[in-house]
Amino acid sequence: MKQLLLDKIAKKEITVGVIGLGYVGLPLAVEKAKAGFKTIGFDEQPAKVEMVNQGHNYIGDVVDKDLKRLVEEGLLSATSDFGFIQNVDFIAICVPTPLDVHQEPDLSCVRDSTAEIAKHLKKNTMVVLESTTYPGTTEELVCPILEQGSGLVCGKDFYLGFSPERVDPGNLIYKTKNTPKVVGAIGKDATEVIASMYRAVLEGDVKEVSSPAIAEMEKILENTYRNINIGLINELAMLCNEMGISIWEVIDAASTKPYGFQPFYQLKIGRISPASMVRTSRPIMAREMIFTHLGFICRPPH
Ligand SMILES: NC(=O)c1ccc[n+]([C@@H]2O[C@H](COP(=O)([O-])OP(=O)(O)OC[C@H]3O[C@@H](n4cnc5c(N)ncnc54)[C@H](O)[C@@H]3O)[C@@H](O)[C@H]2O)c1
Repeated sequence: MKQLLLDKIAKKEITVGVIGLGYVGLPLAVEKAKAGFKTIGFDEQPAKVEMVNQGHNYIGDVVDKDLKRLVEEGLLSATSDFGFIQNVDFIAICVPTPLDVHQEPDLSCVRDSTAEIAKHLKKNTMVVLESTTYPGTTEELVCPILEQGSGLVCGKDFYLGFSPERVDPGNLIYKTKNTPKVVGAIGKDATEVIASMYRAVLEGDVKEVSSPAIAEMEKILENTYRNINIGLINELAMLCNEMGISIWEVIDAASTKPYGFQPFYQLKIGRISPASMVRTSRPIMAREMIFTHLGFICRPPH
């Protein structure tokens, strides 16, 4: 299976399937298609499927004319019928993984889409989970569903791995194409082949790690680091406001340290920046806003 897939990657004979055409899935599907791989996206929302098939873009990080051209050239299409899985060699799962009302990870979209994939999975396919999740998901949740639903054996009949998505919507420098990727799969061969598939598409480095759990945990580290630092800067912004000090100049000055410090400028998801909090004249209100927005940030694993 390893050599067969490596040869198909080299000859661009892999057909790619992307499950979930949102902020993560659509840019990924476009990059795979731009690299010359026939790509089919799946979404349960018929409106998104229709828009893609008509060449209409709805994600900010995707260039309208790229999507239109790829659809016209037949390299990119979308469907809402899971039957397409039997025609693909590489599957990326990019469905939502929010927290539920008890603040527990809600993996129902991952579970449901994996069960649908399993029904149609054929031999010699690579399956990669890209959705943010807790360590253990790929091996303990996704793998058994795929094996039981398909009757195939992971590592022998298909490869399975995890590669965390790092898309940063609105980032003008780092896009799907040039952001380094981490790949951890079940078995060395699987890791090598899945990493080759990403290397055939992306400009960014592809770092291979020894297991899906390492890749899952490193994504948690990235997100935790980001959330803690956003919280820290927001707290400092309020303090600076009370003291009549510019938080921007403070961050600017701290950024001159060449090691051990990384600047964090604004709270992106909550659509509120330290600057707008600084303008708030009532610190208590600002504090409530921060907690609300940080709570929001911490809830969906981003
Ligand atoms: N958006 C980001 O900035 C970002 C960054 C890094 C990681 N992530 C992670 O990537 C994953 C996807 O996030 P997103 O922002 O692209 O979400 P999104 O909501 O923009 O898109 C998800 C898509 O999946 C579809 N979908 C939902 N359930 C489905 C199912 N069972 N089968 C098929 N399609 C289904 C939805 O209709 C939607 O179009 C999440 O785990 C998220 O935490 C997101």
